[in-house]
Amino acid sequence: MQDTVVGLAEATHLPSIGTLHARAYHPTREWHRRIFPASIAPWWEKKYALDIADPNCYVLKISSTDSRTTVLGLLSLRKYEADQKGAGRWTSCLPPPEVDRQAYDAMLSSMIECRERFMLGRVHLCIDHFGVDHGYQGRGMGKMLMGRACEIADAERLDVFVQANEFAESFYGNFGFETQEKVVIPPDGVTQCFLIRRAR
Ligand SMILES: CC(C)(COP(=O)(O)OP(=O)(O)OC[C@H]1O[C@@H](n2cnc3c(N)ncnc32)[C@H](O)[C@@H]1OP(=O)(O)O)[C@@H](O)C(=O)NCCC(=O)NCCS
Repeated sequence: MQDTVVGLAEATHLPSIGTLHARAYHPTREWHRRIFPASIAPWWEKKYALDIADPNCYVLKISSTDSRTTVLGLLSLRKYEADQKGAGRWTSCLPPPEVDRQAYDAMLSSMIECRERFMLGRVHLCIDHFGVDHGYQGRGMGKMLMGRACEIADAERLDVFVQANEFAESFYGNFGFETQEKVVIPPDGVTQCFLIRRAR
């Protein structure tokens, strides 16, 4: 059974956050299974410990009512300054050797190139990570997390940028995101979409 409230993640949620990527993506996404193996859970924990403490990050979560420290859905938003280059925590907290660095670097390079091309010049938010535990997908948690992220963006009157896998493009479209570009990323040929939701 799930909690229906979106809240901000805290340190007690970190062990569960460490496994969320695998729980959300691995059952259906071979690429994520290969590039981000389940063994890197401690890296996700370390990265999110930094994000939770960072005033420029909103780590939104939905937890289980059965176990409050179990995270069933997560959406993290990072605020970038108008002149801020790079990929934030993705480059300042590099993953361990189990991660395929060639694929990781290719993914980040295209994200950096597109974000800087489309967003430099104005403060904006960027969705860093978004996933719902596979066993709980299709129950409205993704919609609740994205709804809260859009409320934050609207309250701050900020555009939101996201690099999304092509499977989620129509999900973002339902929240007012518009696709700016689609890029086939080497070496595996996965298609990534770059979308923006304009401030309103
Ligand atoms: C994408 C994801 C976060 C959506 O979360 P969810 O809790 O399953 O979504 P919801 O139950 O809130 O569904 C909301 C709506 O989006 C639709 N939807 C769900 N997943 C979708 C997807 N991948 N693409 C398009 N639409 C999707 C649902 O059918 C539902 O439509 P409806 O309102 O017309 O009934 C989740 O399925 C997930 O984690 N997928 C694997 C990881 C991933 O692709 N993350 C996206 C990051 S780029």
